[in-house]
Amino acid sequence: MLELRNIYFSITKDGEELDLLHDIALNLPRGHFTAIVGPSGCGKSTLLKTIAGLNIESAGEIHWMKRNLLEDGDLLPNEFGYVPQFSIAYEQLTVDESVDSASRLRVRAWGREARDAIVDRALDQAGLTDIADRRVSVLSGGQKRRLGLAMELVANPPLLLCDEVTSGLDPKSEDEIVHLLADLAHNQNRTVVNVTHSLANLQLYDSIIVLYAGCLAYHGPPSAMPHYFSVEHAEDVYPALGKRSPEQWHSSWSKHRRFYYDKLGLELPKKPSEAHDHDALPEEDKIEEEGGELQEDDTTTLIAKPVAIEELETENVEEKSEDVDITSTEELSTDAAQEVDDEADLEDDDESEDSGQTIQEVARRPGVLAQFILLLSRRYKIFFRDRTQLILHLAILIGFPALVAIFTIDGIDPLLRPSQLTGSAYQQIQENIDVRESRMISGSFVSGLIMFQIVLLTLMGANNSAREVAGERNIPEKEKLGGLRPSAYLASKIVFLSMMVIVQSLWMAAFVEFFWNLPGSIESHAILLLLVNGAMTGICLGISAMMRSADQANLLSIYLVGFQLPLSGAILALPKLFEPIIRPFISAYWSWSGSVSALDSDYGQAVRTVSETGISPNQLCVIMLSIHIAAGLVIAMFGLRKTMWQA
Ligand SMILES: Nc1ncnc2c1ncn2[C@@H]1O[C@H](COP(=O)(O)OP(=O)(O)OP(=O)(O)O)[C@@H](O)[C@H]1O
Ligand SMILES: [Mg+2]
Repeated sequence: MLELRNIYFSITKDGEELDLLHDIALNLPRGHFTAIVGPSGCGKSTLLKTIAGLNIESAGEIHWMKRNLLEDGDLLPNEFGYVPQFSIAYEQLTVDESVDSASRLRVRAWGREARDAIVDRALDQAGLTDIADRRVSVLSGGQKRRLGLAMELVANPPLLLCDEVTSGLDPKSEDEIVHLLADLAHNQNRTVVNVTHSLANLQLYDSIIVLYAGCLAYHGPPSAMPHYFSVEHAEDVYPALGKRSPEQWHSSWSKHRRFYYDKLGLELPKKPSEAHDHDALPEEDKIEEEGGELQEDDTTTLIAKPVAIEELETENVEEKSEDVDITSTEELSTDAAQEVDDEADLEDDDESEDSGQTIQEVARRPGVLAQFILLLSRRYKIFFRDRTQLILHLAILIGFPALVAIFTIDGIDPLLRPSQLTGSAYQQIQENIDVRESRMISGSFVSGLIMFQIVLLTLMGANNSAREVAGERNIPEKEKLGGLRPSAYLASKIVFLSMMVIVQSLWMAAFVEFFWNLPGSIESHAILLLLVNGAMTGICLGISAMMRSADQANLLSIYLVGFQLPLSGAILALPKLFEPIIRPFISAYWSWSGSVSALDSDYGQAVRTVSETGISPNQLCVIMLSIHIAAGLVIAMFGLRKTMWQA
């Protein structure tokens, strides 16, 4: 049983509190198929996200299988499936691969056959078998929705929350999907909630929830819905909603809900356990709680005076005879008799399940290593299939070192050394000037070339990771709901990006070394190039994990790279006052400084003559860059643990 007890979800807008969900109370037993309908923006997706734990309710309680989710923890990952309103799958994968990777992230299976069976069943249920080898990028909107459904069905969850899975489908496909959902609810004893705009196929649902501006306007049998709203057909419900304010609908429903819940064979939802403060309850609840007039007379009043009449009394819209409504209510009672029986059966089932007798076993999720391996292999697959990205990375990989190599074409002049100073005073002065000039030219060249390599590698680092998480944020968010561990996700990114960093940095060092013999330890230089690329990749990964959009992450990363050169002090010395504050954060400085300190002593001296910036010892530079990498990864882990749902 899923029970919502007086749920509120509020946001603060322009300093004022705004209820997106206002006092929603409803009960949905196991094996029950319900639709949430209502005008656009009325809070359907918000309600679904609140049940899924993506929105934290501001007040009220959600109970599932006798557990208070607020106190006893959220729904377990495989206890529910959530099909969001927008497609969430990698465009570069095929349908089959997407479902397979969803299953490998969510469900343990022993052996290939067991795995294939899970994937094939989900594909079959969602009607995707025929297009299993098609890329997600070429799927139609409707097919993408089916894919979203299939990716949830792999876990066989006892609660299935679907947000407009039928939108954009042709009538036949819509019909098929609604029948499938009904089947998943009724024959597999699942609670299925389907948000829909469509009022077709309403008879297939056990109950309909009508939301209006965040308020619950109705939750009852589909056949009774037109009656409640005093309209001829279900399609007329939307226009009828506008005839009253959301508050009026809310209070009307609070008064009449017992009648319709009786029709559904359901108990009314209970009050939140902490709502003992009588003053905190809405007026209608107080009446109910006191066991006063409404409880006693409720059913009679309702049968004699359904909402249509009440509307007449309050709004004087049109004259209607009470007899007509009594008849229609009686008819309704007869029509709904079968439903009531069915619902009663469901209720019985539900009780036995809640008591623990027939609870469907919740699928066990795979371990962190299995998730890591899947994520890493999937990342490589996507990388090699994304042609544009691949070409861009290759162009950068070859182009950047080539750019540096161009500057080495003229080679580096050997440093002049002072002779034994035997000539005239004039000659000695002239020689000193020449030596000094040669040291300045060579020092600037070596310093500039090292810094150029570093700046290009910081650019590569930013390009590696700025979009890595922010560009696909909804996918890990969705997968986290299904049991993905952020640590497995982060580990897969670290390994993938480390490979890029290693290839880019070592290639840069080797390529430039080929054209220009660095006057010093190439190993030490290569390590510092590796570390600066790693530092920038790590920090930009952290930024990517903290930002809501790829554009934001990109912009911030570019600024970060842009400030590396001026703030490194290699061109302009930093003011003494700011130097100790700024320097620790500038990766480019530590890489440059470490490389310079590992140069042959003559060239090291030459660089020192042109730079006013102090050179730190090589080991300190390695430590500082390692700290930068670690800081980036800690920030990334922190960002990945946060819930940042954007759909
Ligand atoms: N996190 C949020 N912050 C601010 N406003 C929000 C937030 N989430 C939803 N809203 C607003 O709440 C209202 C309900 O949104 P919701 O997405 O639930 O509507 P809906 O009924 O699903 O609409 P549709 O049928 O168009 O999908 C909208 O006005 C939306 O802009
Ligand atoms: Mg919506």
